Amino acid sequence: MVISQKYNVIDMENGLLDRSIFVDENVYQEELEKIFGRAWLFIGHESLIPNPNDFFLTYMGEDPVILTRDGKGELHAFLNMCRHRGNRIVRADDGNAKNFMCAYHGWTFSNEGKLVSVPGLQEAYYGELDVENLGLVSVAHLDTYAGLIFATWAEDAPTLEAYLGDHRWYMDVQFNRRDGGFTLIGPDKWIIPNNWKNSADNFVGDNYHAPISHRSATLARQQVRGHNIDQQFKPYSTPGQQVSPGNGHGMGHLTFESDEEYWKRNQGQDQIILDYEKDIHPEMERRLGFVRTHRMRPGHSTLVPNMSWLAGPRPVRLWHPRGPFHTEVWAFWAIDREASEEVQRAYRRNGMQSFGPSGLSEQDD
Ligand code: FES
Ligand code: FE
Repeated sequence: MVISQKYNVIDMENGLLDRSIFVDENVYQEELEKIFGRAWLFIGHESLIPNPNDFFLTYMGEDPVILTRDGKGELHAFLNMCRHRGNRIVRADDGNAKNFMCAYHGWTFSNEGKLVSVPGLQEAYYGELDVENLGLVSVAHLDTYAGLIFATWAEDAPTLEAYLGDHRWYMDVQFNRRDGGFTLIGPDKWIIPNNWKNSADNFVGDNYHAPISHRSATLARQQVRGHNIDQQFKPYSTPGQQVSPGNGHGMGHLTFESDEEYWKRNQGQDQIILDYEKDIHPEMERRLGFVRTHRMRPGHSTLVPNMSWLAGPRPVRLWHPRGPFHTEVWAFWAIDREASEEVQRAYRRNGMQSFGPSGLSEQDD
């Protein structure tokens, strides 16, 4: 990796990192250029812009990006920057608009990115402005997977399918388990004082913190629900696997030897959610097969660099780097489209209680 060679901070032989990678401004700038400027980045979900002419404001690294669905239903993503003097043209978080007018001099761009109107085109520019070539700056590639939208600035990027690689097999358990798919609700947004890599890395492989950090939250939940999980599970010897499926992505999942074990392990959830999960198991098995339905349960995962998710209340995280010392968290919840309103509400409530901005577990983390 270029960063490691240049700064000599990664000791592959001994598996050690120099902690300067979490604070060094030069490393951060290089990450913006070489990781966030090139990798496939998670930027939203189709359910955030369901109708023609919907838009959603997001970021790719520190670059503000407008995600649009044009009048024909096609998806686009553009740098939120006026081609005249660089003003931001969209300031609302989301909405519905065919055109975006820059508030400074009034240049107007369509949601397909074309420059469609310039005040005083004849008088001020003598009709000589190269209007054709002054459309919004588009991402190089945009593609979707299970309705999740990804984009990259790199012309020479591999296909999204290749980038996701073998991680798709695990992602499907979370994002492809029902015929009707899911909607992404949110985001709640807040800023945490850490380097973005702490968050991404934690969702790859730090289950080790859970028995200590989340101890009080787990006990409180047990009391409310009348369970005694403590007597059934040994946190440091629960069977499972830590997976490195390639391209830097990673995850941890639990494994089970019987259905009885599987459902025992799920017992900590609200009854309404537990009943729902049991109801949809035959459909999941049809879609995912026996192993991914009965013998494993994904826990935590990161798709490098900016997307993470968890099982349980199904939070999905979008990490926006904000300098070496801060990360802007965008928290969504993946809610099955075909779940009843009551079940959807239960997931949402459960999610907010655990991993919302003031959720019990979120505070621990
Ligand atoms: Fe946008 Fe001038 S900066 S129209
Ligand atoms: Fe945690």
